[in-house]
Amino acid sequence: MLIKTQEDVTPVVLEAFKSAPDPRVREILAALVKHLHAFARDVHLTEEEFEKAVQFVVALGQKTTATHNEAVLMSGSLGFSALVCLLNNGNNGQTETTANLLGPFWRMNSPRTENGGTLIRSPTPGPAIFVNCWVKDQQGRPIEGAEVDVWHSSPEGFYEQQDEKQADMNLRGKFLTDAEGHFWFRSVKPAGYPIPIDGPVGDLVRATGRHHFRPAHLHFLIFKPGFKTLISQIYSNDDDKLETDVQFGVTRALIGNYLRHDDAPPAPDVTGEWYSLDQTFVMEPGKSRLPKPPIE
Ligand SMILES: [Fe+2]
Repeated sequence: MLIKTQEDVTPVVLEAFKSAPDPRVREILAALVKHLHAFARDVHLTEEEFEKAVQFVVALGQKTTATHNEAVLMSGSLGFSALVCLLNNGNNGQTETTANLLGPFWRMNSPRTENGGTLIRSPTPGPAIFVNCWVKDQQGRPIEGAEVDVWHSSPEGFYEQQDEKQADMNLRGKFLTDAEGHFWFRSVKPAGYPIPIDGPVGDLVRATGRHHFRPAHLHFLIFKPGFKTLISQIYSNDDDKLETDVQFGVTRALIGNYLRHDDAPPAPDVTGEWYSLDQTFVMEPGKSRLPKPPIE
């Protein structure tokens, strides 16, 4: 069929893509073409706007380096990463879940740390936090021997690789759950932090009049063969940006009860205010796989 008017373009492209041998590729491409063409018709995209859009996509790649992934940041800033996560967890989007975004800062091979140990590997001022977590299956039975990566930003809002004051692997550790599914550790209370806005994500943030901060959180990655790898973030209930997270990552199930204490510190070196957090994670049966680290 030869194209005569704009209306003909979509059926011609759909017909041409029917030859894709992989059925899933065929399905995804057909839906992509339908939605993309409908989008252009919906807003009646002008030629100038199309040029801008192409420059925008090119800039996503140009801004991406070995230590920064602008495409992941953009996906988060559009709420797309949150949508994909919630579609694929919580019994395929049917129920609440403690699953959340991986984020750009996970590293392989965090230092093995005994339960009760600390994530602090170089002097890191800030209020102490004592974290107790339990990993369970959907029937509430403890999961023993799960490997748990924990990582988080400093009380100044920087991950170790962004901050020359912090030692390599500071505020990172890998734990193993005991027979009760329990793992526990000590660290400093993380702070929220700004996302980079010197690229196309910044253009989006400014165009929408939003702030560019994430609320404070701890990251977790829980791995145990026979269970779907659980990637999570537990957000601080005292953060004023829970409802306006620039990455749309916060859900109700992920707001942790970060309890402030002023007395009876659990360790002799703790002075002033300190925090505790108790958190339970529920793993779904499924495939255990490690994600590809987003940066090298
Ligand atoms: Fe983070």
